[in-house]
Amino acid sequence: MQAKKIAAALVAGFTALTLSACGNGIAGGGSGSGDGAKTTFRLAFNQTEQHPQFKAAEELGKKLEEATDGRYSIEVFANETLGSQNEVVQNVSDGTVDMMYIGGPVLESFNQDFIVFNLPYVFDSQKAQAKVFADDAVMGDLKASIEGSKKITVLGALHAGIRNVYNAKQPIKSPADMANLKIRVQQSDSQVAMIKDMGGVASPMGQGEVYTALQSGVLDGAENNETVYNSLKHDEVAKYYSYTRHLMIPDYLIMSSTVLEGMPEADRKALLDLIPATVESANTGFLEFAAESKKASEATGAVFNDDVDTAAFKAATADLVKSSINNPVRQALYDAVQKANAES
Ligand code: GCU
Repeated sequence: MQAKKIAAALVAGFTALTLSACGNGIAGGGSGSGDGAKTTFRLAFNQTEQHPQFKAAEELGKKLEEATDGRYSIEVFANETLGSQNEVVQNVSDGTVDMMYIGGPVLESFNQDFIVFNLPYVFDSQKAQAKVFADDAVMGDLKASIEGSKKITVLGALHAGIRNVYNAKQPIKSPADMANLKIRVQQSDSQVAMIKDMGGVASPMGQGEVYTALQSGVLDGAENNETVYNSLKHDEVAKYYSYTRHLMIPDYLIMSSTVLEGMPEADRKALLDLIPATVESANTGFLEFAAESKKASEATGAVFNDDVDTAAFKAATADLVKSSINNPVRQALYDAVQKANAES
């Protein structure tokens, strides 16, 4: 894994050097515009090429190239080859990686208010989630909050499935079944607190380390949507997938603000105009991909359990939700979610 990452980073660096030496392209950093140069943005992704977010990003790259007469394009680096989300987000912030998809909880370290959408049982439906994310009056300030300070522009918020607990030992029906189970979570305090309240023991780590940790017994399980469970082969080493439906966490497509600001205005506008269709395509593709992933996992012998006392899990985590909504910004975001839930 490490060797693979280093090799990919070397290849990426080599490409950048070669192209810039030829004077017709620079990968990363967003420079090279305005003098006939071509710029290839590097977009980091921690999942496979089959994922609809990968396909949507490739499509975005093609359309961007057309719209800017070849001045800008995108190369998508899948499978965590540029590093774990936790690592890469620092590079986006300092402008050495141009773009990435990032899970919501990882952004909490830049602004804790992102927590609202990462709490258990907050969204009732994907429709409600989409409604909130499409509303700039709700999302605008949150998105802009990390632009000045961290130089990160949030281009879009995407649906990233519904997360459920899986493990190697048994089906999970109630919080009692989680006792002593070591469950991987994304790297944020909210996720650690959530698993504790659900009855288990949380272990935060990057996605790429999870398979080996499950295989070696360092972890008993993890929590994620069906696509990760199947495409990263967690179904081979943690056969019981239980529908706790505890989270509907967004992914965000983010970009270095420095790089974005460095684009000529018309090209920047062209890029921003392409984002809604990119989000739409990734979201639509996701549902189908999740259904296919479940079938594929079942074919490998994974056991899907829908006999889960979700009300008990919701009650167990209610205090975490309440104590996390502790300032007016979060309250306003939370109220917007409740409104969308009621209307959807
Ligand atoms: C999902 C999500 C990713 C996230 C991953 C994880 O796949 O889409 O953004 O990184 O879960 O649990 O790490």
